[in-house]
Amino acid sequence: MPGGEKRKEATVSTYIPPAQRREKSPHLPFGDMRQTPFYGKDIISVSQFDAAGLEYVFGVAEEMRSMVEHVGTFDLLKGKILANLFYEPSTRTSSSFMAAMQRLGGSVIPINEVRYSSVAKGESLPDTVRTLESYADVIVIRHPEVGAAAIAAQYCRKPIINAGDGVGEHPTQALLDLFTIREELGRTDNLTVTMLGDLKYGRTVHSLSRLLSLFKTRVHCVSPDILRMPPDLVAELKARGMPIQEHAMLDAVLPETDVLYVTRVQKERFEDPAAYESVKGAFVITPETMQSAKNQMVVMHPLPRVGEIAMELDDDPRAAYFRQMEYGLYTRMALLAMVLGKA
Ligand code: NCD
Repeated sequence: MPGGEKRKEATVSTYIPPAQRREKSPHLPFGDMRQTPFYGKDIISVSQFDAAGLEYVFGVAEEMRSMVEHVGTFDLLKGKILANLFYEPSTRTSSSFMAAMQRLGGSVIPINEVRYSSVAKGESLPDTVRTLESYADVIVIRHPEVGAAAIAAQYCRKPIINAGDGVGEHPTQALLDLFTIREELGRTDNLTVTMLGDLKYGRTVHSLSRLLSLFKTRVHCVSPDILRMPPDLVAELKARGMPIQEHAMLDAVLPETDVLYVTRVQKERFEDPAAYESVKGAFVITPETMQSAKNQMVVMHPLPRVGEIAMELDDDPRAAYFRQMEYGLYTRMALLAMVLGKA
């Protein structure tokens, strides 16, 4: 029967042996699209980026900014579908990826509450990503376990973008953080960056400090003793030649700081609630704190804030944390366009 043969042929020709499934560069459907260095790639860790790669991302992000300012929404990724798979709470990361895809003319399968998906029935991560790759062209994933995005990528033929893997990495946040620094201060070199708060569990500072090690940057880590930067990471950064120092107080380092990167104490990562209570209000940045800071500097925060930055600071021109979210939209538009071969 001709129909049967056709179906059979289709089944055979679409079978991809497991060994080839990790090859993530399908053929471009049209001849006029440029290949990009990130086309078809997963974005799992900031270690995938060198200075040239970052400049490429930021150049595309600037183009995205200009397009959004001029036309708002355009059809660069028309017909493409993003699956947004979030196993942990998120406001900014999930909604900015959704907005990014929609501004590029694509559409989104939002799975913000895995409770209501088959994950609640016990489905494994590999099976969930294999399901979503059948429907979507790219998958953004946030998961409570370190390494989850890398595991998802092993099982998925479509690009996986890590939107936070437990206390591990948050590469797209680090990219947007560095883009914010570049746009706000005009450079990513010769800077003193002070990271404040929960440096143990805060994945954004883990990724950002690694990216900063590509530049001439001095880093001060200010935290309560129990929330210090992981010693392995400090050793890794020192081995790369980064001047990095740990402190218990902010006062001594604030006057020389160009970027004050404030973080939330990550309550959900504590095993002992009493330990959280002992450090939760350890640092609060107020207008008084900022009196000893430079005039030309920025205060950043990945958000959400839960008391580390007083609302009274919001009108200070140095408070860049709301602008930071907007830079995040352009950075994520750039990343989606890049992995889908349209940047
Ligand atoms: C951060 C995260 O999820 O790691 N938030 C974000 O992505 N903007 C920081 C945090 O939750 O404290």
